[in-house]
Amino acid sequence: MLWGYTAAFLFVLALYMRSEVLGVAEQQEDNKCADISNTTWQQYRTRTKLQVRYLLLTRSNLDCAQAFSQESLSKTRLPPHFNTSLMSKVIVHGYRAMGSKPSWVMELAEVLLKSEDVNVLIVDWVYGASFAYNLVVESYKEVSVQISVLINQLQKQGSRLESFHFIGVSLGAHVAGFVGTLFEGKIGRITALDPAGPMFKRADTFDRLDPSDAKFVDAIHTDSDYFGISIPVGHIDFFLNGGNDQTGCARSRFASMYGYVICDHMRALHVYMSALNGSCALTALPCTSYEDFLMGKCVDCSVFKGTCPTIGLSENSGITVSPVPKEQKVFLITTSSEPFCAHHILVELEVASLDKSAEMELTLVKGSQKVEKRLRLQTDTTVYRTVLAHPAPLCEIDSISVRNTGARFYRQADIHIRSVCLSQLPRREAPLCVNKFDVRRGAPWSHDFVQVCN
Ligand SMILES: *[C@@H]1O[C@H](CO)[C@@H](O)[C@H](O)[C@H]1NC(C)=O
Ligand SMILES: *[C@@H]1O[C@H](CO)[C@@H](O)[C@H](O)[C@H]1NC(C)=O
Ligand SMILES: *[C@@H]1O[C@H](CO)[C@@H](O)[C@H](O)[C@H]1NC(C)=O
Repeated sequence: MLWGYTAAFLFVLALYMRSEVLGVAEQQEDNKCADISNTTWQQYRTRTKLQVRYLLLTRSNLDCAQAFSQESLSKTRLPPHFNTSLMSKVIVHGYRAMGSKPSWVMELAEVLLKSEDVNVLIVDWVYGASFAYNLVVESYKEVSVQISVLINQLQKQGSRLESFHFIGVSLGAHVAGFVGTLFEGKIGRITALDPAGPMFKRADTFDRLDPSDAKFVDAIHTDSDYFGISIPVGHIDFFLNGGNDQTGCARSRFASMYGYVICDHMRALHVYMSALNGSCALTALPCTSYEDFLMGKCVDCSVFKGTCPTIGLSENSGITVSPVPKEQKVFLITTSSEPFCAHHILVELEVASLDKSAEMELTLVKGSQKVEKRLRLQTDTTVYRTVLAHPAPLCEIDSISVRNTGARFYRQADIHIRSVCLSQLPRREAPLCVNKFDVRRGAPWSHDFVQVCN
């Protein structure tokens, strides 16, 4: 590790000197509105240098991003509109396979500025990011070093290290992670949106994002079996729908390129933007695995002294326990479209023992919103637990219905239900239970709830 830091230091020093020497290479662009770069196939094939530039957006130049480069920042001059007493959000995009500009960047900047009065710095490294993936991975640290030079300059002009919050998408999360390494974990926060997995999963923590990179690191995982990373890399790691496959992302090979290839990966970003827009809370529960979570083995947030983490900008993701745990996996189920929020409802079922295995379908209804869950009942088990996601909170559920769907090929007997109990997670109150009823094949059973939300 010591060697790592020393090497990093020398690396920074070398680049620092290079950037001083290069001096005034790029022209000032502060009189016109800027957009993030895109690169053509010709430029892509003849890539020679990284060409990192920055765009600044604040509440006073919402519609007109200002571009600047390291070299254009003289020692005494701040980028126009940059206010050192405000917090700064630094957006870092990831790998650009086709050299196209990441079109979501401006949208993210806009929602950030809507929620908070901050400086939004967009790191535009589209030129460096558009090349063979393995070569981009080999050079991403150079981007981090360049960013660290900028942060140093801003620090000299009055910004505090803790005031920087990096938001890195995919490979951009590791770029942010290495900036954090260079500042020995003293930057305020890194939010990783589906941090890149290929070539990083088995990497040393020096070479990938990890919790030591910032005072607080939160990560949202949505494609950890493909483009994303499957291991936790932050203090809190949100695994959405288990972290692999997202609802509403097409699985069919006839689906569009986007739907097939990148939808899961980009879901982290879309969920994050939706969370910033703030219409509902995306709350997660700690658990060892998604399977255990779905089986109702994790029902509260006692590891965080009762407060569950939520996706978004709240400090430490809303966790108040100190010190914040590291590499804590937390799970949540989302819906397939904006605003993605759902309430987690634990169903606990106890049946009298069965002669034959059976199947039943349980439905929770609120107005026109129905959520169904199929359960397979075995002869050797009488207690079942499962978690489902409902757009309505438990206290608004109007009714529950149960159908004995059985197997087609033999006469299914009645299912004798001892109790079915519902609890909203995290569990805070006594469950809502219905006891002792039989469900006959072909005759659905249902029960209306009369309840109020408090
Ligand atoms: C990006 O590419 C599009 C289409 O090729 C082009 O119209 C646009 O001017 C380019 N933008 C920049 C900033 O180069
Ligand atoms: C910078 O931000 C601070 C804190 O919000 C504010 O009081 C000050 O007026 C701002 N400065 C400028 C030049 O806008
Ligand atoms: C945020 O909400 C507004 C309406 O309040 C909507 O127009 C916009 O598309 C939303 N943006 C995101 C990123 O969710």
